[in-house]
Amino acid sequence: MSAAYQACLNPQCAATFDTRQVLTSCPECGRLLDVRYDWNRIAVPDELRWFETRWSGRRNPLDFSGVWRFRELLNFAADDEIVTIGEGQTILQQNDRLAAQMNMRAGRLHLQYEGLNPSGSFKDNGMTAASTHARLVGAKMTACASTGNTSASLAIYAGVSGLFQCVVFVGSGRIAYGKLSQALDYGARTLQIRGDFDDALARVREICSRYPIYLCNSVNPFRLEGQKTIMLRVLEGLGWEVPDWIVVPGGNLGNCSAFGKAFMELKELGLIDRVPRLAVINASGARTLDVLVNEYGVTWNGGEPDQAAIARYFREMDERSERARTLASAIEINRPVNLEKALRAIDVCDGVVRSVTDQAIVDARAMIAAAGFGCEPASGATIAGVRLLREEGVIDADDRVVCVLTGHQLKDPDLTVAYHTGDAELRNRKLIPSGVTQTPLANTPIVVDNDVSAILEALELPADVMAR
Ligand code: F0G
Repeated sequence: MSAAYQACLNPQCAATFDTRQVLTSCPECGRLLDVRYDWNRIAVPDELRWFETRWSGRRNPLDFSGVWRFRELLNFAADDEIVTIGEGQTILQQNDRLAAQMNMRAGRLHLQYEGLNPSGSFKDNGMTAASTHARLVGAKMTACASTGNTSASLAIYAGVSGLFQCVVFVGSGRIAYGKLSQALDYGARTLQIRGDFDDALARVREICSRYPIYLCNSVNPFRLEGQKTIMLRVLEGLGWEVPDWIVVPGGNLGNCSAFGKAFMELKELGLIDRVPRLAVINASGARTLDVLVNEYGVTWNGGEPDQAAIARYFREMDERSERARTLASAIEINRPVNLEKALRAIDVCDGVVRSVTDQAIVDARAMIAAAGFGCEPASGATIAGVRLLREEGVIDADDRVVCVLTGHQLKDPDLTVAYHTGDAELRNRKLIPSGVTQTPLANTPIVVDNDVSAILEALELPADVMAR
């Protein structure tokens, strides 16, 4: 019997289930499930610093993985059941240039660049864990709905491991080509549903509940176990000191939920003495969490969030036929499935929720890129969020802040090129919705004749260089 089990999030229900069961909600009450551990039966190290000893064993794929080198803290599989492709080689980087732009002190702003994962986004942290669970329950086929990155990640794990056939459901027309190209290249059967992400997720859940197809969306509690390790690497990057703030974009709310669970468990284990604050940043065209927390006053409330208020909001949204719409297509989600876990994370981490406009997102993305880190639009929400929270005085110039850059720049090159080539182009290609009117950081390419003197003129070289 493993030391891990599944448990219902609802304290009134508190039903538990074996890890060999494939569940995406509690069969008793329908709420979300957690993976939990009987810590007394696991050899958890006394201090986090111990995990650094794993660096010397890097030839062992489990010690090389940035997820599984922390395996005592996600101990649900035997070593020989783990499916890893070397995910999580990501690093925390201090960026003083951005710190200055945010009016923060040097040394206080850090970027956790998850774009360096094998499929180019943070999803690989979770997919290695979901694929491991899929293998241990004997799944032959895996599936997900996706705004793009989850499908790329699912497909790469199926392709590299050769263990699963895989099928991905994407909404029509709203997936960035970098991501779609990955799912196709890695061999996923790709269904473009006539509908949006919320529709695609509803359909894939329906199909997976009827047939033996293993669902890898973040309602899968095992996936979120892998995503906890992003925070372990952040702590490692800070010499195991806890930062003041973690800033993360919010879409389906799996990542922020996993972060909250990581800190909850580390505190419970006595491995950290305080938790950071969490800032979850929505796009203003997909701001369900922001509305529910800041306008409807919904909280975790000891595990009993106000379900009536949540249902009322969704009903009103349907009555208005409101659909999520943002240029940060990764987080274009109306009905985040991990809403309740996100509320718990906000409770544990004294969190705040904000939304930022598409204009703020594209400008922040360009600013992060100019500071040396290419990321996709959703990740730009982090720096846009920091800017807003600095203006509000919620984040202090001296606070130690970590922004999680969730996806690589090359996921969505069309948008980047559109931004730099100017407004007309943006609108012609319908990449920029009406909210974006300016591109202040545009670095527009110069069209020039195939002629040296014309090129020299366009180069605008300084006089001292020309004089040579
Ligand atoms: N950033 C990126 C680059 C994403 O791809 C996603 C989610 C998020 C942030 C939001 O994370 O859902 O955990 O709150 N992308 C999902 C997908 C929905 O299908 O790839 P979240």
